[in-house]
Amino acid sequence: MTTASDTASGADATFGRHVAPSTIFTADNLDVLRGMNSACVDLIYLDPPFNSNAQYQNPFDPEARFHDVWSMDRVRKGWMLELRLKQPPLHHIITAAAVTHGETMQAYLAYMSVRLIEMRRVLKDSGAIYLHCDPNASHYLKAAMDYVFGHRNFVDEIIWHYGTPSGGRTAGKKPVKVHDTLLVYAKSYGDHVYNAQYLAYSEKYVRERFTHTDEDGRVYRTRKRAGGRVDRQYLDESKGVPLSNVWSDMKQLYAYHLVHRKREETGFPTQKPRALLERIIRASTNPGDVVLDPFCGCATACVAAEGMTNGRNPTLPEKRRWIGVDVSAKAYEMVVLRMEAELGMKETGKSGRLLTHAGELRHKVIFYEKEDAKGNLWRRTGGDVPVRTDAPQPFDLTFGEPETRSPNIREIRYIDQEGRCAADGESLALRHLNTEHIVSRKRHDGPDVDGNIQLMCQSHNSVKAEGTMRELDEKMRSRGEEPWEDRPSFILAAERKYLPPRLRP
Ligand SMILES: C[S@@+](CC[C@H](N)C(=O)[O-])C[C@H]1O[C@@H](n2cnc3c(N)ncnc32)[C@H](O)[C@@H]1O
Repeated sequence: MTTASDTASGADATFGRHVAPSTIFTADNLDVLRGMNSACVDLIYLDPPFNSNAQYQNPFDPEARFHDVWSMDRVRKGWMLELRLKQPPLHHIITAAAVTHGETMQAYLAYMSVRLIEMRRVLKDSGAIYLHCDPNASHYLKAAMDYVFGHRNFVDEIIWHYGTPSGGRTAGKKPVKVHDTLLVYAKSYGDHVYNAQYLAYSEKYVRERFTHTDEDGRVYRTRKRAGGRVDRQYLDESKGVPLSNVWSDMKQLYAYHLVHRKREETGFPTQKPRALLERIIRASTNPGDVVLDPFCGCATACVAAEGMTNGRNPTLPEKRRWIGVDVSAKAYEMVVLRMEAELGMKETGKSGRLLTHAGELRHKVIFYEKEDAKGNLWRRTGGDVPVRTDAPQPFDLTFGEPETRSPNIREIRYIDQEGRCAADGESLALRHLNTEHIVSRKRHDGPDVDGNIQLMCQSHNSVKAEGTMRELDEKMRSRGEEPWEDRPSFILAAERKYLPPRLRP
């Protein structure tokens, strides 16, 4: 899928192999982020799942849906391990959330944390990140962001007041929800781009304050200055009201007048208005800068960046470059449809794809296959996987267990197994659990690495001896015991990886 323009543009050297502006990736964003060069984007806007315990469905397309329901089954054991070993404070924040909120929040935060770490890395020193969330998880995300970006780089918490309360929107014994939250962090506070924004004065304000008209018909108000001097402030020269951190002037799409909705609405359930993205992009980037949306949905941020114009003179184009990622292939279809319908783009390049201001539209796809029966985890199988060109050793994208033995693997496994014996799942104190090779060293030549270690109580350890987990289960059943039904997936993964092929489960 690599096009000639990828290499011709020199994008590889700046962004990483397969990564270039005007690209939509159909992929898990972690795989894209990990393959991107450091410090190559100016702005990240992300509108991830909010941990809302809901499943979203595009009414026009049964395939375009995503699950915002979380459990530790969806979180790779390797992520917790990586966080524990490489980012202990973040691991503490996540485990604290498990205590105060429960497993869903723990799983959600682990999923977000591994991605936020990469987002910080790919952001330029002058860059900023806007994390769109809501009260479901904003408090936990802020703690995670304080660690990942540093609390001194916290810029603001913006309240997007998107709707008006109505009887139809009441839910539960509480007031009607009418706002989302944007957590804004700079990579390095003070070095970040911020273009002050102004809102137009209200008609009432103009009527009441700008009460004079000069001989040329220009409207103005008078302002008393020090020393008794009186100045004229002309309305057509006034910037307006400085933007505050509560944004009430742009509504959710469904709140728009029907005519406006028809133009912009795609049917995507969590679509954000373009005006919201335009404000963010205008405030935190300059023309030509690169905007990354790693959860781009129906590509609102990409369309907004491509269609950017001057804030005061909308006929002046001030386009930004952009990169979008979404697990759903719909994002690419959407970006084409929306650029044609909303931006009036028709011109195509050599390969017949729409021509954006930064070159031909690119679609890069990473392929996956189900890793477990329920489809909680997906294994990458190939495709246009980005590869960093700025690092001598590309990151281990598989997030696999390290091929070494960690000194604290016993404690790590205690967390991974939630304090249970790997044989029957009984909860035990750590002192009653021993480390044990999942695939026997003696009988099957299993390696002495983290990925082949589990915890088991002494008595089951003797029952298993040098056998496989299946043999252990059979022996346990013959003794009238029930094997642990919800064994963590790393145990099965170890047998699949290290047992001789004929014995693999
Ligand atoms: C709330 S929606 C984004 C909506 C978007 N801001 C818009 O205006 O269209 C979240 C999106 O994240 C995508 N998503 C969830 N997990 C992802 C992942 N790991 N990598 C890439 N996309 C993901 C979902 O498919 C969904 O489209």
